[in-house]
Amino acid sequence: MKVVTNNIRFATIIGLFISFSLMEINHLSAQTVWLDQLDLSAATQGYGVPKKNKSVDGKVMTIKGKTFERGFGTHAESSLLILLDGKATSFTAQVGIDDEIAGHEPASEFVIYGDGKKLWSSGIMRLGDAAIPCSVPLVGIKKLELVVTDGGNGNYYDHADWADAKFETTGVDTFITYNPVASEPYILTPPPPAWPRINGASVFGARPGSPFQFLVPVTGDRPITFSATGLPPGLKIDSKTGIITGKLSKTGTFVVALTAKNAKGKAEKKLRIVCGDRIALTPPMGWNSWNCFAQEVSADKVKRAADAMVKSGLINHGWTYINIDDFWENNRDSKDQSLRGEFRDEAGNIIPNSRFVDMKSLANYVHDLGLKIGLYSSPGPWTCGGCVGSYGHEKQDAESYAKWGFDYLKYDWCSYGNVIDGLPNNDPYKVSSLSYNGGSELNTAIKPFKVMGEYLRQQPRDIIFSVCQYGMSDVWKWGDSVNGNCWRTTNDITDTWTSVKNIALDQDKSAPYAKPGNWNDPDMLVVGTVGWGNSHPSKLKPDEQYLHISLWSLFSAPLLIGCDMEKLDDFTLNLLTNDEVIAVNQDPLGKQASCMHTIGDLRIYVKELEDGSRAIGFCNFGLEIVNLAYKDFEKIGLNGMYQVRDLWRQKDIENIDTKTGQLALKIPAHGVLLYKFTSVK
Ligand code: GAL
Repeated sequence: MKVVTNNIRFATIIGLFISFSLMEINHLSAQTVWLDQLDLSAATQGYGVPKKNKSVDGKVMTIKGKTFERGFGTHAESSLLILLDGKATSFTAQVGIDDEIAGHEPASEFVIYGDGKKLWSSGIMRLGDAAIPCSVPLVGIKKLELVVTDGGNGNYYDHADWADAKFETTGVDTFITYNPVASEPYILTPPPPAWPRINGASVFGARPGSPFQFLVPVTGDRPITFSATGLPPGLKIDSKTGIITGKLSKTGTFVVALTAKNAKGKAEKKLRIVCGDRIALTPPMGWNSWNCFAQEVSADKVKRAADAMVKSGLINHGWTYINIDDFWENNRDSKDQSLRGEFRDEAGNIIPNSRFVDMKSLANYVHDLGLKIGLYSSPGPWTCGGCVGSYGHEKQDAESYAKWGFDYLKYDWCSYGNVIDGLPNNDPYKVSSLSYNGGSELNTAIKPFKVMGEYLRQQPRDIIFSVCQYGMSDVWKWGDSVNGNCWRTTNDITDTWTSVKNIALDQDKSAPYAKPGNWNDPDMLVVGTVGWGNSHPSKLKPDEQYLHISLWSLFSAPLLIGCDMEKLDDFTLNLLTNDEVIAVNQDPLGKQASCMHTIGDLRIYVKELEDGSRAIGFCNFGLEIVNLAYKDFEKIGLNGMYQVRDLWRQKDIENIDTKTGQLALKIPAHGVLLYKFTSVK
């Protein structure tokens, strides 16, 4: 009996031992880890928040009618970083656009990167495409990135599903997701001194006969007394506000000596007023309603934005335009009654919606603050938001804008794709949100902008013409010929790293076409509280925001703040008030930086400045900190002795001999060093 009992005990022990060992082996060998088991909150995406086992709108994931229980519901532009550390053997998923956005025209591409190399891509996917299976071997891969791009047509309604997504592993039960870009905001721009400093552009263009308005932007304690000597006949300066007004009748270049005085001291600066054909001799700077208010814009919000431009002090750094985007017009199909009403009067003149009862007094209000005001329309019958456009009424609209006192027009392609010459039975008024067709035919692409460009030129006002057609047909090659002052080179920006990065990387091709009066426009700024009607702090990390502002300055891009001006926090305000950075953007030579040297993820952008110096952005597009002793100066066009100044910190760093010297660079992930190199003897 005893023997039997002992044998049973022995067998039990052996059995336990075997099953423990099997568990151990199981644990160390293949094991499935589902993507939805990871912390998905580290993902960045263009809209909404990352969803576990649901679509981005929180519904059951459905791709072409097929439902999926597990996965990651996201929205382009989307990026999720996963630390695999060589412990995954493969990744499989079914990817596609979620059916929940039926009726729209999304397009996206799913891309997988391993250790910085592209491992797999779905190709462009559209609504109604069946889920594409993906199966990617991952042996040895340390870092994985799951990306969803906007598919090249903006990220509208790009609801993207990584369905049934899972890893086979070497025996681990989870992976860490991460975002290596620091999130603590930090301030770099030193506060302006108490004594006066005259900021902003040093050249200003106006046409003869147009009402003239230029505010001398000055920081320093108030009150300040302004004066100007050498003003051409027809102009005067208000000594209390620093606003120069009047009318020029003679063409020519006039060099004016500006002075600003307060109790602490005095500042002087030369301003070149060029009276001739060209305006916008430096990139326009200001605010636009779209990225924060979208369809919720109203005259009251516009006035408050203008007030905030003054109260925040931004006006003292050259910020000027207050631009109303879409939704000041009446809408085709909105349920909001404040947007419904007659589109035009009997004579065909446009009637603003009920939120904008008196456009002229709104313009006066903004002008009285020393600012300027802008408006939006489309050459098609409808704007992108379904409000009435200028099609067939271009002349009348240009006249209305001038009569009301507007200074800027953004003219947005939108439904113009329905207005294509030579296409029989094409109803231009047919309802379509964004229509691109036709934009590739050069004549069709140019025509609507030429029409409006000419009517604007006929107005007795200087109206900046901002061409918006997302960069079709190489607009930078012909934008000047239609009187365009700036033109969008991209689809809409969003406050995500992938959006800013992709736009930035795409700017070199148009760079040679920038010049005074003609600017490439990589779209508006996404700093501060943004949200297209759904307000939230920009999802860009602080370093990404420094990079964004540095690059847009180097690009000589129009600088249009897209945030809620009443919610400016210290970080955002600091970011937008660095006069040395702004001076790079406003440099009168009007050149656009391009990338002259690439080292891995480090791209070095160089912009020639009027005084012979160079603004150089050392831009880190990668996820690792860049620590480098840089010495390839001839690659970025430097030769000799230079004084190096850090523009964000407004501090001289060192003098460097480019033949023998090395520059120590330490650049955070997704961050920048913006330096100015000035030749010294
Ligand atoms: C888009 C344009 C945006 C905004 C919007 C208004 O086409 O790119 O910047 O203006 O239309 O509906």
